[in-house]
Amino acid sequence: MVVAGPSLGLLSEVQGNILQAYGTHYRAVNHLILAVADPTAARRALARMVDGDRSTPDVTSGERPPREAGFRWCLNIGFTYPGLMALGVPRTSLDSFPPEFVEGMNARAARLGDVGESAPVNWVSGLARPEQVHLIVTVHGWCRSDVESITQQVLGAERGRAFRLVSSEPLDGDALFDERTGLRQVHFGYADGISQPRFVGIHDPEDYEDDLPLLPIGVVLLGYPSATPHVSWQVPSPDVLGRNGAFNAFRVLGQDVPGFEAFLAATTVSAGSVGAAGSVGAAPDVDVELAAAKVCGRWRNGAPLSLAPTRAEADAFDLTRLNDFDYIDDDPDGLKCPIGAHIRRNNPRGAHIVQRSANRTRALIRRGVPYGPVWDPSDPNSFALPRGLLGNFICGSLAAQFEAVQYDWINMGFQDPRITGTNDPMVGANYPGTSCFSWPRDGAQTVVMRGFTRFVFTRGGAYTFLPSIPAIRWIAARGA
Ligand code: HEM
Repeated sequence: MVVAGPSLGLLSEVQGNILQAYGTHYRAVNHLILAVADPTAARRALARMVDGDRSTPDVTSGERPPREAGFRWCLNIGFTYPGLMALGVPRTSLDSFPPEFVEGMNARAARLGDVGESAPVNWVSGLARPEQVHLIVTVHGWCRSDVESITQQVLGAERGRAFRLVSSEPLDGDALFDERTGLRQVHFGYADGISQPRFVGIHDPEDYEDDLPLLPIGVVLLGYPSATPHVSWQVPSPDVLGRNGAFNAFRVLGQDVPGFEAFLAATTVSAGSVGAAGSVGAAPDVDVELAAAKVCGRWRNGAPLSLAPTRAEADAFDLTRLNDFDYIDDDPDGLKCPIGAHIRRNNPRGAHIVQRSANRTRALIRRGVPYGPVWDPSDPNSFALPRGLLGNFICGSLAAQFEAVQYDWINMGFQDPRITGTNDPMVGANYPGTSCFSWPRDGAQTVVMRGFTRFVFTRGGAYTFLPSIPAIRWIAARGA
């Protein structure tokens, strides 16, 4: 990581989970959903959490990469709009936040695909009642006991008067790793944490083997030009509150792993047949792993289809090249990586898309840790156990980035007429009657998968603001 010029100061002020990936070094995480119990005690507790004394639970800045820092734990805080109100942030400041943050995630459910079983009324851990969700404190630890000890200190702040734990059940997760590659994994068995946006002044292209473009820091931090020419996101006022902050879509995403595996298997057995739960035009040379790769855009070991179209190439893949690809020149029609595949939908890279200049402007920083046990197909009791991803999607504008991706690209396929009307096959709000995912093949019939259901359900969520460390001091000083 390059830390030069203005970034040096910037990183010490920015919350660490925005620009540092903790997941690789810190295996355990907990998200505490808190209500402000006593505003004065809560502000005092927050003031202590930014005093730089690591003997108490302190907010971790982005100044030092976690590996170098050697900290056993990291702590970060997201504030909801009701939380800022409860802490006494003045009306003029509250009014300067963007409408989607003010309304909150629950109110925006329909556009996010959070309907039916995924509707906010069914959300867990107190997240169904947004008025009582004030702070989300995220604690990462080397191991579970580190997380537990910091959690107890947060709950005991100001002798337990400051905050009230809203979550009825814990939102804790543990990193999964692929033993062969050492890469982090998600519950569907794919490597994750591979592709993240990189920023001018923060990342050094010399550190990477590929040519991923550097984006302006304003894609994620408030107070700087965004990636859209002449556009900067509105900075909440006063400047000390808004600058160097970011917005976060926290999501508890349940995953139906047995259902997903059955869907992949159905593609291979129904070769050539037409059926509600099968596929049209599937071929005998299609196997479960190829179907899995087409759905995601990467093989489960992380190798991108764009560079490794066959299983043999994926098995022998050079892991330094995991991001060394684009779609524009060598795969415009999705013959290698389908246009509707998860990674291509969510980051079209240089491909031609309907929204033209939006290729890089909707970039999201993804921080996610799996929760629940790995599915064991030999154990019938493992089938129904809750499992999924505790995801954080961090950006400068929830409406222009997170919601635009979730609505336009994941669930509508507006980016390319060839996929419009279809949803992301892995994480979209699919229904058996309408779902469709197709992958054209060079010199062979297009494989069309139909009749599948939803595999990722929203179990909870909240929009939070991740203020800079000076901004937390400012919030803590209200009412003083
Ligand atoms: C349980 C739900 C999800 C699972 C299991 C999942 C899984 C994955 C996997 C395996 C990758 C490839 C690894 C990588 O490139 O780093 C990936 C990439 C990505 N995902 Fe997801 N994802 C989920 C939800 C979402 C959601 C809700 C969004 C957007 C709101 C999203 C956005 C992205 C983006 C932007 C990439 C990187 C694409 C690239 O830069 O090439 N994911 N995801």
